[in-house]
Amino acid sequence: MRKNIVAGNWKMNKTLEEGLTLAKEVNESLKGADLKCDVILGTPFIHLASVVGVVDADKIAVSAQNCADKEAGAYTGEVSAAMVKSTGASYVILGHSERRAYYHETPEILKTKVQLALKNGLKVIFCIGEVLEERENNIYFDVVKSQIVDSLFDLSGEEFSNIVLAYEPVWAIGTGKTATPAQAQEMHAFIRKTVADKYGKEIAENTTILYGGSANPGNAKELFANPDVDGGLIGGASLKPADFKAVIDAFN
Ligand code: PGA
Repeated sequence: MRKNIVAGNWKMNKTLEEGLTLAKEVNESLKGADLKCDVILGTPFIHLASVVGVVDADKIAVSAQNCADKEAGAYTGEVSAAMVKSTGASYVILGHSERRAYYHETPEILKTKVQLALKNGLKVIFCIGEVLEERENNIYFDVVKSQIVDSLFDLSGEEFSNIVLAYEPVWAIGTGKTATPAQAQEMHAFIRKTVADKYGKEIAENTTILYGGSANPGNAKELFANPDVDGGLIGGASLKPADFKAVIDAFN
């Protein structure tokens, strides 16, 4: 069964104390709620274990925003997938456009990270999406397809079942400029077909495909109403508990 998911991506925001306050507020806002989706909080590394400790595990899962492309050893400053898993986190966001652009994460590096994450029992929220120029030049389907093929299509069908895809058009991230529901649906249907062509219809139907990029309480309902949009990866709006809850409520 395909899951609906609303995942927050806090990015590099919130001190530990502020993050714990936010996590507690989100947790409180979901008490007694009849949730129609899974909820995930994507926090900085240093928050993971503490956030796991203050949220109700039956309602909220916790995610890292990155992990190392190496297993262990002399890689100063890096955090391995095994370390992420040991905090009680169950997901890791990989391939975010900010990591691709600012930290030069190539499809090859991301492929290694995905494999290490899965090997260590983490589920992966894998981000894909075109930049504005690629959309304007009408190559956005090819770009997104390559991102999927290059980093994920070495996985077995069973491994792929632990991947959540997040379509995040780069021109929509943090810009206040959202993809229209029609643009999102068009791309999500294409992504699902790409998965079906490789892994078959059943796995494709069971794959959760999130939309990300300026999703907020004002547009979430319209976006999530599309048959191939199974929720959202929420940046800015995930930092405000009331807004994040309102996005979750878009499924009700
Ligand atoms: P945004 O970020 O909601 O602030 O646009 C989304 C993301 O980058 O995951």
